[in-house]
Amino acid sequence: MALGFSSAGAVPARPGTEASAPRPLGQLVPVPAEVVPGGSPYAITSTTPIRVADGSGHGSGSGTSSVSSSGSVSDEVRRIGTYLSELLRPATGYALPVTDRPGPGGIRLELGSPDRSLGEEGYRLHSTPAALTITARAPAGLFHGVQTLRQLLPDRVEADSRQEGPWKVAGGTITDAPRYGYRGAMLDVSRHFFPVEAVKRYIDQLALYKVNKLHLHLSDDQGWRIAIDSWPRLATHGGSTEVGGGPGGYYTKEQYREIVRYAASRYLEVVPEIDLPGHTNAALASYAELNCDGVAPPLYTGTTVGFSSLCVSKPVTYDFVDDVLREVAALTPGKYLHIGGDEADATSDEDYVAFMAKAQAVVGKYGKTVMGWHQLTAAEPVKGAVAQYWGYDRTGPAERGQVADAAKNGTGLVLSPADRIYLDMKYTEDTELGLRWAGLVEVRRSYDWDPATYLEGAPQEAVLGIEAPIWTETLTDSTEIEQMAFPRLLGAAEIGWSPAEARDWDTYRLRLAAQGPRLTALGIDFYRSPQVPWS
Ligand code: ACM
Repeated sequence: MALGFSSAGAVPARPGTEASAPRPLGQLVPVPAEVVPGGSPYAITSTTPIRVADGSGHGSGSGTSSVSSSGSVSDEVRRIGTYLSELLRPATGYALPVTDRPGPGGIRLELGSPDRSLGEEGYRLHSTPAALTITARAPAGLFHGVQTLRQLLPDRVEADSRQEGPWKVAGGTITDAPRYGYRGAMLDVSRHFFPVEAVKRYIDQLALYKVNKLHLHLSDDQGWRIAIDSWPRLATHGGSTEVGGGPGGYYTKEQYREIVRYAASRYLEVVPEIDLPGHTNAALASYAELNCDGVAPPLYTGTTVGFSSLCVSKPVTYDFVDDVLREVAALTPGKYLHIGGDEADATSDEDYVAFMAKAQAVVGKYGKTVMGWHQLTAAEPVKGAVAQYWGYDRTGPAERGQVADAAKNGTGLVLSPADRIYLDMKYTEDTELGLRWAGLVEVRRSYDWDPATYLEGAPQEAVLGIEAPIWTETLTDSTEIEQMAFPRLLGAAEIGWSPAEARDWDTYRLRLAAQGPRLTALGIDFYRSPQVPWS
């Protein structure tokens, strides 16, 4: 296997100087599994078509009409072609028509690769002067291949106004598939509320780096952010403020569905979280009967944690849990329902174990897979449950061991070590935004760890992947999210996607530096870490 971009010598090493020569084939984040450079480049021109073909090798031959009568897969390939065309059109100024008419040349998106090792998400990109061909076994693979093509083009392709060509892609072949099936990012929309457009913007940024899960932290002490028909005050009252006392907000069911649809169009699965039994002040403030003393507390706009709990002994608590999880499950096509379980410091240990057993049963009843923060392993995780590990340096051996033991007994793990990929941790003493309870997390520290060996004692097979959460106590808009997420998010994406043997800090920092102008072209004001040789 040829890893990296070994024969890159003929092209400029400095990113952003590719006025005529294309960027090296392996200069990507995440770094692909296999890169074999060679041959002359492919060039997109004013007459380039985007040819889409389904598993039969080509389409129905009916020109630009629908590719198949039943045709969901073909329709999906066509949709990916249209997405690519719309992505490239503003900067190139070319028409880039999408067609299923067989013919030579063009950018070719083809389903039906015989290479089983590509799996559902892998792809092969083959670039010659005659054609640029992306093949995959499933639409998700084609979509990820399109993101690779996008990164191989000059950064100015991201501009929304016409730019100078040429639009060349280096010759050669990339064969690529992800290391982990779970490659997530979490957005806390509770501490501060983010409108649908901000969530879509983040989804588009995640898609560029092949992230495939969007975990939405939909409820917490400071705000309830999803409409629940059977308990309407959760959103109308519980969603009416946020940290600092701003107006807050919540997603209507239609808005949530819109987020789910948009995420799916970028091959991301939404993982909704209703945090239970702690982190529930917004719910307790909305319904007095959920409190053991029957008295609703005031809404909360501070940033303390661990003070709220549902009333574990009251039957109405389980009506609430059943109603909420039923409605959220019904809105969510994805596999997972995340029920939190972290920092339940106001719930006794005995109550916690009893409560988590009941809440997990409700998730199963509505056909979803339980996900919870790793404190779930202090209760009894149900079969198939996934624990999200968010420990850090100060997490003691007993707690680590408990999570590792659960993993040995079949609980899946998603790794979100707080002192590595909590994207809201400050980079340095001088970072204005963010928090520092897990430590200062510079770009190298965030990148330089391996999921397979991170949690001592946990079997490698238990690790489903990684997730980079961003908590928003201090973050109020997309600009602030981006200052904290970028560039660390790219490192998390690479940790989740790339083979361990293809990754190391010394080559990553160069590939990351080459992403800087692209982030700038996308309007992302990222942290210019001195650890990275930005051009
Ligand atoms: C967490 O950071 N409380 C999961």
